[in-house]
Order: sequence, then structure tokens, then C-alpha cells
Amino acid sequence: MSGPGASRTAAPEGAPANTVVEEPRITERPSAVRLRDVGKTFRGRRRRTSALEGVSLDIEAGEFLCLLGPSGCGKSTLLGILAGFVPADSGEVLVDGRPVKGPGPDRGVLFQTPTLFPWLTTRQNVLYGPKARGALTRETEEEADALLETVGLADFRDAYPHELSGGMRHRAAFARVLINHPSVLLMDEPFGALDAITRAGMQRFLLELWQRHHMTIVFVTHDVEEATLLGDRVAVLSGRPGRTKAVVDIPLPRPRAYEDTETLAFVTAKRRIREVLER
Ligand SMILES: Nc1ncnc2c1ncn2[C@@H]1O[C@H](COP(=O)(O)OP(=O)(O)OP(=O)(O)O)[C@@H](O)[C@H]1O
Ligand SMILES: [Mg+2]
Repeated sequence: MSGPGASRTAAPEGAPANTVVEEPRITERPSAVRLRDVGKTFRGRRRRTSALEGVSLDIEAGEFLCLLGPSGCGKSTLLGILAGFVPADSGEVLVDGRPVKGPGPDRGVLFQTPTLFPWLTTRQNVLYGPKARGALTRETEEEADALLETVGLADFRDAYPHELSGGMRHRAAFARVLINHPSVLLMDEPFGALDAITRAGMQRFLLELWQRHHMTIVFVTHDVEEATLLGDRVAVLSGRPGRTKAVVDIPLPRPRAYEDTETLAFVTAKRRIREVLER
């Protein structure tokens, strides 16, 4: 990881090849996530669904944790609880030592469909958060421009979301979240809807970003290969109601690259996770 100051970075896909980017600081605080015996049941008029039961998990500051499990096991619910969108019924949910009581800019959330305001340009979208909080300064604007460089969208700062490709919209959503200096990034199958090439480009981009800034990331996926490539550890949830079945270490060296997926060590790690998932 580079120091806290400016650093030179390879330009992401879509940016001019020789782009040198001045890196803004993205994370400010050390962070950690602590879940203890977290449970959640949805109670509808006709249906009662126990989504999570007794989930306990500790995530270190700067760790990249992937959350894996079968469809409907409560992965999005768990992420929603961490984001503060969904209240837990029971247990303890702490981020940076503080109980989660609602959404906050300290937790940046990225979904499968990037959330951008269609009537705002890329740059206006990035600046939306600080503006809404009354924290728009010259410095923030400069940071937005630097972040647009980082995500390879400097040339598209005045474009509207409908003028961007799928991958570009994702990168714009990234910049929009990163300007808030989140201590935790919560990502719910963010690349699930992308084509294979764009997806590989976004995985590479995320790995580079994490390698430089070591933010804490909780990344939901049901793709074993993606979890193995990205995670320091993979938390595997059981079928509904989701419980922590196992937390598997990924003993692959960093920095990682998409090409690592072809190595024997990678295939072995992937097989271990698949075994846990299927047992
Ligand atoms: N708002 C809600 N109201 C009622 N039930 C819900 C709600 N949100 C989720 N559920 C239920 O909780 C369970 C877990 O859903 P969740 O979306 O967390 O699963 P998931 O692991 O993210 O699945 P997928 O991999 O398909 O995205 C499901 O049975 C779902 O029907
Ligand atoms: Mg989900």
C-alpha cells in the first residue's frame, strides 16, 4: 500500500494509457465490523420469513471480506442491516465500535444497479452527497475531479448517466460513494449484471483501489471464483435462515490480479470454498 499522500496509479480501463492520477485519500478512520448473534425475521401479513439467525462475524479494519451463500440465505439482508436500511431483530451490530442505528456516510453502499440521479451529470452525481450535507467546498470539488480521474471518467464528467456504459456507471457510483470517505464499503453483487469482460475490468479496478487504500470491504457475491479472487476471507452462510457456516481464509498473495485465477493455488482455494458451500 502506498503512503497517505499522492501516489501514481495505473489508469483504469477507459482512461488514457498514460494518465497519472493524484490520489485523494479515500479512507480516514480505522474501521471494524462486529456482528454478534444477529437475527432477522420478516413478518408480512401472510408470511413470516426467518432470514438470518445467530450470525456472528468480526471484520478487521482494512479487511476484504466476501459473503457467500445460496440465493435467499440473507446476504442482502445482512448487508442492509450493516448499511442501516434494515433493523436487526436481535443481536449486536457495531461498525467502528458504534451500534448501527440507521444509514450514514461512513458506510458506502454499492448495489448491482448503480444508483445515479439521471438528471445530474457524472460530476454533479459525485458531488451530490457533500452538497446535500451542506459540505460542498472548493476542496471537495477538487477531490471530485481527482476521483473522476481515479475512476477513469474525467472525460465524462459532464455526461449524464444514460450516456455512460454499464461499467462507467458503476465507476461513477464508486466515485459518488468514495467522496464521503466511508470507512466501510458494502457491496451487494455489484458486478453481477455486467458482461464477463466489463466484470473482469471492474474486479481489477476494485483490487487496485483496495490495494492502495485498504478500506474495509464487505462484498456479497454468489460467485465462488469472484469471492476467491477478491477476499482475504470468505464467510459462507448456510441456506435460510442464514447462519455463519464457516469463514475460510484465502491464502493467496497480494497484490492479486485477474490472471491469478489460472494458478493452481487459486483453483485449490476455490475448491475449498466450494466444499464448504456444498456440505
Ligand atoms: N423486505 C422483505 N420483506 C419480506 N421478506 C424479505 C424482505 N427482504 C428479504 N426477505 C426474505 O428474506 C430472505 C433473505 O433474502 P435476501 O434478499 O437477504 O437473500 P440473498 O441471500 O441476498 O439472496 P440472493 O442471492 O438471491 O440475492 C428471503 O427469503 C426473502 O424472501
Ligand atoms: Mg441478495
